[in-house]
Formats: sequence, C-alpha cells, structure tokens
Amino acid sequence: MKSLVIALSLLMAGSDAHAQEAANPDAASAAKAQAAIKDLGQSLRGALVAKMQSEGPVAAVNFCHDEAPLIASQVAERHQVQIGRTAVRHRSPSNAPSEWQQAALAEFAAKVAEGAPAAGMTSSSTVDVNGESRFRFVQSIPTEAPCLACHGDTVAPPIKAEIDKHYPQDTATGFKEGDLRGMFWVEFPMTPAATPVSQNPPDQRAPIVMSEAQRVSLRLEMRGRMETLQGVMAALASGDWSEVAKRSEEGTRGQHRGVDFRSALPQEWFGMARPMHGEFAAIQHEAEGQKRVDVALQHLAKAGQYCTSCHATFRPVTPSESAVAQQ
Ligand code: HEC
Ligand code: HEC
Repeated sequence: MKSLVIALSLLMAGSDAHAQEAANPDAASAAKAQAAIKDLGQSLRGALVAKMQSEGPVAAVNFCHDEAPLIASQVAERHQVQIGRTAVRHRSPSNAPSEWQQAALAEFAAKVAEGAPAAGMTSSSTVDVNGESRFRFVQSIPTEAPCLACHGDTVAPPIKAEIDKHYPQDTATGFKEGDLRGMFWVEFPMTPAATPVSQNPPDQRAPIVMSEAQRVSLRLEMRGRMETLQGVMAALASGDWSEVAKRSEEGTRGQHRGVDFRSALPQEWFGMARPMHGEFAAIQHEAEGQKRVDVALQHLAKAGQYCTSCHATFRPVTPSESAVAQQ
C-alpha cells in the first residue's frame, strides 16, 4: 500500500488543548491505529458485500443505517480506541467531522488537488488534551466503482428513496471513482513506549538474591510442583487412590534437581514451604487410609494456598538485577 505520511499540525480550535507536530511518530501507536482501521474497513466491507449479494442495494442501505455504527463500536471495544469514518460531504449527521477532523480532511483534499491519489494517505499527530497525551491517526478513503451505487452521480430511484428516508440531509452523493470519499479516524491515549514496565502496579514482593543458575533450578522445582498439584487432582478425579498416594508423596519433600538454592532462601520461606509439604503428607495419609475425597480435597486446597501466598511474598532476583534496582 502506498503510504504518504504528512506531518500535520492539527488544530484544536475552541479548546485550550494544543497540538504538537509528531516529530517522532510513535511506531507502536501507528501500528495499533492501522490495525483498528483495517479491522473496521474489513468488517464494514464484509457486512456490506454480504447484504448487497443476498438482498440487494436497497436493503443494504437500511442495513448500513442499523449496522455501521454498531460495527464501529464493536471495533472500538476490540481495539480499545475511539474510531469512526467521517467526510466533508457525509450521509449520516453522526459522521460529521469535528474540528481537528475537518483540518485533516482539508489536508487530504489539498494533496488530491495537487495530484496525489486519494487512496492510502495517512497522517498522525500527538495532542495534549487536559494533560493527557493522545494519539490521532487518519487514513483516506477513496471512492471505488462499487460505492457509486449509493454515493455516485446517478443513484437508482429506489436506492435514492431509501437513502432519503433514513438520511434527509444526505450530501454524500455525486462522487466519481477515484475521488476522495472521506477518511477513517482513530484516537486513543498514548502509552509511553520506552517504559512499558511502569504501567504495571509496583511490585511489593520481597526480593531474594540468588544466582541465575539457582533461579533456573528453583523454577524447575516449581514446575514440578505444578505437575504434582495437577497429578493429585487428576488421580482424585479418577478415584485412583494408589496414584493419589504416589503423587502426593512428591509434594511432601524438596524436589530440586540441578544446583542447590536452599542456601539463598530466607527463614520465612520455610514457614510456607513446610506447611505445604504437611498438606501433601495429609493427602498421602488419607490415600493410604480412609480414602475420603472431601478430606483429601480440603488438604489440597490448603496446599494451594501456600503456593499462592509464597508467590505473593517473594521474588527471586539475580545479583545484577539487585545492583540495578539499588542504583
Ligand atoms: C448500499 C449502499 C452503500 C454502498 C454500496 C456504499 N455505502 Fe457508504 N454509506 C452508506 C450509508 C447508508 C452510510 C451511512 C452509515 C451510517 O449511518 O453511519 C454510508 C456512509 C459512508 C461513509 C461515512 C461518512 C458518511 O457519509 O456518513 C463513508 C466514508 C462511506 N460510506 C464510504 C463508502 C465507500 C468507500 C464505499 C464503497 C467501497 C461505500 N461507502 C459504499 C451506503 C452505502
Ligand atoms: C515457599 C515459596 C513457594 C511455594 C510454597 C511455592 N512456590 Fe512456586 N514459586 C515461588 C517463587 C519465588 C517463584 C518465582 C520464580 C522466579 O520467578 O524466578 C515460583 C514460581 C512458580 C512457577 C513458575 C515456574 C517458572 O518456570 O517460571 C510455578 C508454575 C509455580 N511456582 C508453581 C507452584 C505450585 C503449584 C506450588 C504449590 C504446590 C508452589 N509453586 C509453591 C515460590 C514458591
């Protein structure tokens, strides 16, 4: 696709928001905007073509009236953006351009007047609205041959009648193939691209300094714990008590393969690890004794609580990470 990026200074007349030129347009934001536009364009086109083919253009006008705004709001929700179509000569009053959109449409029209093709023009800008940095992106919409049935010079009388019924103030006819029909617009708050981590809530967990090798072997043990948990549940679900006994026994003891990391652990660690082992021991005891599913499940649920409490409490860090954090 031919893409002509115009550096636009979009004016926000009538408000104290000031526009800045997008000197360094955020590539991620532009990609997000383009993905949303692609989705909207394809969704509208797909729905329109299907309706035209199944019921003809008159029904399609009615369908556009009901469905176009709905499709736009679904796309907005999916991509977490504000999005729409607008044009100088528009059909629906709710597609009338806002002031910044008028400025963008005028820039596109000027380019077309200079001989640029109406297809594939885009521009972006970043504006400050009440202290929030917002990204705006627009993309031109050309008039294609199939659009003329509803937007061309001569619209067939039954279609015209249907349009007039829904849109008494329609001015979106008289277009020729290749004319600039209008544009897609997208707007959303900018996220600082350089520091995505800062978007996360602060990490309150206590760091435990350990070597990279120790950390790898801790994670290996943890994945084994997950397998134990899953194994006990599956065995309980299928009523296989000898398997319950075997799998819960794994949970009663340390399982580390690889390098020793116990030396790196604080005392509080064992305050959660030991009772977890105890719960697995109780399950093993039940499996070898009375075999009550509800009792075994209660111990399993308690064991799981020690998993989640410990995960909420500790965070392993390597010595280099801990040095960075202290700077
Ligand atoms: C079956 C008739 C029909 C066809 C064909 C059609 N449109 Fe539309 N168009 C409409 C209707 C109806 C609306 C108003 C939708 C609404 O209420 O939001 C509309 C709205 C638009 C808008 C939004 C701005 C405005 O005028 O309200 C654009 C842009 C647009 N059409 C472009 C196109 C393009 C480009 C094509 C061809 C690829 C096309 N249309 C084909 C009926 C049609
Ligand atoms: C006493 C503390 C503690 C207990 C108890 C504990 N974990 Fe962990 N677990 C951790 C820590 C700390 C990490 C983070 C390791 C890292 O990020 O380097 C972790 C990470 C994990 C991971 C991710 C492994 C990976 O490859 O990144 C899984 C899965 C896991 N734990 C499962 C469990 C299950 C299931 C249980 C209970 C049956 C459990 N853990 C009990 C401390 C604990």
